[in-house]
Amino acid sequence: MSADLPNDDLSFDEIDELISPRAEETDFDRVVETALSRRGFLGGVMTFGLGSFLVGTTALTRDALADGHADRFGFAQIAANTDDTITVPEGFEWQQVVTWGDPLFADSTSFDEATRGTAATQARAFGDNNDGMSIFTKDGRTVMAINNEYTNRKVLWGNNPDAKWATADDVKKGMNAHGVSIFEVARDDAGNWQVVVDSGLNRRILPETDMDLTGPAAGHDLLKTHADPTGTTTKGTWNNCGNGETPWGTYLTCEENFNGYFSAADEAHEVSAELARYGVSSKDWGYGWASVDDRFDVAKNPNEPNRAGYIVEIDPFDPTSTPKKRTALGRFKHENAAVALAPNGKAVVYLGDDERGEFLYKFVSHGTYSAAGNNSDLLESGDLFVAKFHDDMRGEWLALTPETTGMSDAEIRIHTRQAASSVGATTMDRPEWVAVNPTKAEAYVALTNNKNRGKKPNAGGDDTSANAVNPRVENHYGQIARWMPDDEDHSSHGFSWNLFALAGNPDVHDDAYAGSENINAGNMFNSPDGMAFDSTGLLWIQTDGNYSNEEDFAGMGNNQMLAGDTVTGEIRRFLVGPKECEVTGVCWSPDRRTMFVGIQHPGERGNSHFPDGGKSLPRSGVFAVRRVDGGLIG
Ligand code: FEO
Ligand code: CA
Ligand code: CA
Ligand code: CA
Repeated sequence: MSADLPNDDLSFDEIDELISPRAEETDFDRVVETALSRRGFLGGVMTFGLGSFLVGTTALTRDALADGHADRFGFAQIAANTDDTITVPEGFEWQQVVTWGDPLFADSTSFDEATRGTAATQARAFGDNNDGMSIFTKDGRTVMAINNEYTNRKVLWGNNPDAKWATADDVKKGMNAHGVSIFEVARDDAGNWQVVVDSGLNRRILPETDMDLTGPAAGHDLLKTHADPTGTTTKGTWNNCGNGETPWGTYLTCEENFNGYFSAADEAHEVSAELARYGVSSKDWGYGWASVDDRFDVAKNPNEPNRAGYIVEIDPFDPTSTPKKRTALGRFKHENAAVALAPNGKAVVYLGDDERGEFLYKFVSHGTYSAAGNNSDLLESGDLFVAKFHDDMRGEWLALTPETTGMSDAEIRIHTRQAASSVGATTMDRPEWVAVNPTKAEAYVALTNNKNRGKKPNAGGDDTSANAVNPRVENHYGQIARWMPDDEDHSSHGFSWNLFALAGNPDVHDDAYAGSENINAGNMFNSPDGMAFDSTGLLWIQTDGNYSNEEDFAGMGNNQMLAGDTVTGEIRRFLVGPKECEVTGVCWSPDRRTMFVGIQHPGERGNSHFPDGGKSLPRSGVFAVRRVDGGLIG
């Protein structure tokens, strides 16, 4: 009874909407009026934004001189292309580090193209569709922690006649392609980074791995199941998208589209409104997990989906440690977790909920960080806020408390979306990664796109009319917004904001869809997604967008990675990925001479043989990029 996937070519959001259709916006006149007035307003937004770009130029010059770069970027922009490979600027080179199915343990077997492995071999190998990643060092050893977000089902099961799962082992192989891969890396004699296959630090974290549920929601009735009547322990993590890392050396993995793995044997089963808000339904997205484990049957275990959708904290240097789901940081489709320290030592974590019209959040710990102390419970308790962006370029973090929401503290952490709706937070154009500038008190969020802006409400029925921070109706291009917390303190309740970039196509459009002034024919892109600052304060932007290279997207080529100078506003294309991939996940070697870049789902529509070429299967992987002269790269 292989589940019928709606359409493997659709994005997660599109599958969600197919299963749970949103009502069309009815007040069409109001939408048009808003769109028109926003177009006028945009001029004001951009004027404000460009004005603020000029602030800090002196500091930029000093920084640029200090790090020895001839200019802020240190590379010449490359052209867009549609090649089935990675392209980097002249003076740079790249090397394959690890790809889907590669062995991580001494008893692992090599990847088998014909069978694509088994559940058992996949559990001992690098997972599929790598996304967020971090690097950690301790006692001279270097460890990478990398999310394996989901699996390319048509490739994983492509050796079956209909490219769908047929056996329980197929389903479990798919399961084991998810989770997190942690392994030691080292340079070989040629200077190339390799996995240390037999390292005792290597670990796969899978959808079956034991975890603790911690924080304000732990033990709540909504988290109790037959298998765990205490509501404090659970199994596994899946659909781990972006990441974060803490100053105390732990890895944060972020559970995003957790809903797509639940189903009910009876497809007529109706889930509760609370689960529907998160896209849980009686149909999964083709993974079949309920066929091998009843906990994914939402009719039998309606509380199981409440145990996913969290930030999970992992000690990357202790393979025997139990990962902790941190309910204090709320439950939604977590993109990444960008950590900053407030001047008073509180840990601040910015969190996006990646779905059309959902929200941007902030967690502020109750405790304070101590370099010499024990910080292991800093994410255990804190205050949760949701962003309100006002049209006058000011904003505020609205507290989610029993007083403001009418919900208990535990309910706020489980039904976080509902809590945010109740306080009137700003519906956003799909918040993907947040990046915190290490050189200045400001943070950036990639708002990847939102074709429903001004057209349909979000999953909670909230109005999604255009607003200043999400200014374009039917936004196919996306934008990057930034905010500057009051008093240069990330724990402040107020902030100023502006738009760093509106992606667009100035060759095709001459209105707001042309993009902001820092977008031109040479650096066009759409759907910013992954985003991180390097140590010099350059903002690296990765895309997961339309790679048709036609019509609205003509001239943009494959998905790519760019760098932005947040002071001048200039954006340059640095890397182009292979066909039908997403570029996602970036981190740097401790000496800053290697940049690790993730390539996810190359050939997701069947048109890539990256990285091995010939007739080989396309495989997601991590690639090391270096300067040929061995110089610094971020
Ligand atoms: Fe997994 Fe929102 O990207
Ligand atoms: Ca993403
Ligand atoms: Ca995306
Ligand atoms: Ca993608």
